[in-house]
Amino acid sequence: GRPLRIGIAGLGTVGAALINILNNDGDAIARKLGRRIVVSAVSARSRHRERGVSIDEFAWFDDPVALAKSPDVDLFVELVGGEDGPALASVSAALERGCPVITANKALLARHGVALAAMAEKNGAQLGFEAAVAGGIPVIKTLREGLGSSSITRVYGIMNGTCNYILTRMGAESISFEECLKDAQELGYAESDPTFDIEGFDTAHKLAILTSLCFGTEIAADQVFVEGIARITQADIKVAADLGYKIKLLGMAQKRADGIEQRVHPTLVRKTSSIAGVDGVLNAVALETNHVQELLLAGPGAGGEATAASVLSDILDIARGTHVPPLGVPTDDLVPCTRAPMR
Ligand code: HSE
Repeated sequence: GRPLRIGIAGLGTVGAALINILNNDGDAIARKLGRRIVVSAVSARSRHRERGVSIDEFAWFDDPVALAKSPDVDLFVELVGGEDGPALASVSAALERGCPVITANKALLARHGVALAAMAEKNGAQLGFEAAVAGGIPVIKTLREGLGSSSITRVYGIMNGTCNYILTRMGAESISFEECLKDAQELGYAESDPTFDIEGFDTAHKLAILTSLCFGTEIAADQVFVEGIARITQADIKVAADLGYKIKLLGMAQKRADGIEQRVHPTLVRKTSSIAGVDGVLNAVALETNHVQELLLAGPGAGGEATAASVLSDILDIARGTHVPPLGVPTDDLVPCTRAPMR
């Protein structure tokens, strides 16, 4: 078949890892798919930064919106980041011309996901976002295709690799919060503004997206109660450990009589629980349904290669013509999201 030409906007950790995977696995993918995936064009803030991969053979665009509009791009991959600005403008430009979009941008989806999904549907374009929640874990696919008619009663999990990495290391060695954060940044786990990680907003964005998929609600990131890990000390972790617990930053959404409660905060989890074993950069999403007491999906939650692998799984779905159902387009039986009460 005809090659699928992708345009990538944003060449940070994930973008560079995606190019690297396509370079290494290109032939294998082509054999499996019966068509080649080729990068036709790229855009980033700086053209000449050292990234460990060459971008010389791709067409260059200073402006991601121009890239998204290019007739030589069959599939637009948005890895720019940010909830508005060039990310929103370029994704909208692609969808408006019916071009499928893949994004890893949870902040963008948390704010504009419903509008973008509606735009995608109107223009017959697909919007893939497997990489936006829990990095390399195929949680979106599982929610969309893996649960049959089960109805979800609760979803919770560790959804930020940076925070889990920091809490894990602080629990294992005598090292400061700041030093752990610096290492998480160097490993390519943290957001460009790490406040989003440590203050819990990144977890809230991901939780709001999951809530929408699990319960058919609008995406309501502003209805999440949020407390991050910035004030957790080594002493807190030690006391918790002495009592048989670990401290994890959890996001949780569950059905309540008056709607769906959404909350993000440091939580004591029993050391013997499965989620307590999820350490380092790993994330885990637990689903409770009317038929399954608990389904725990665990795996790498951040980092270039794992996240790029999720982007690639969406690329392959679109290349195969698999239909990706839209996200959170409001249904008639909308359930309101309520902020968890302070306890
Ligand atoms: N900064 C995010 C994290 C990246 O640490 O989990 C993955 O979304």
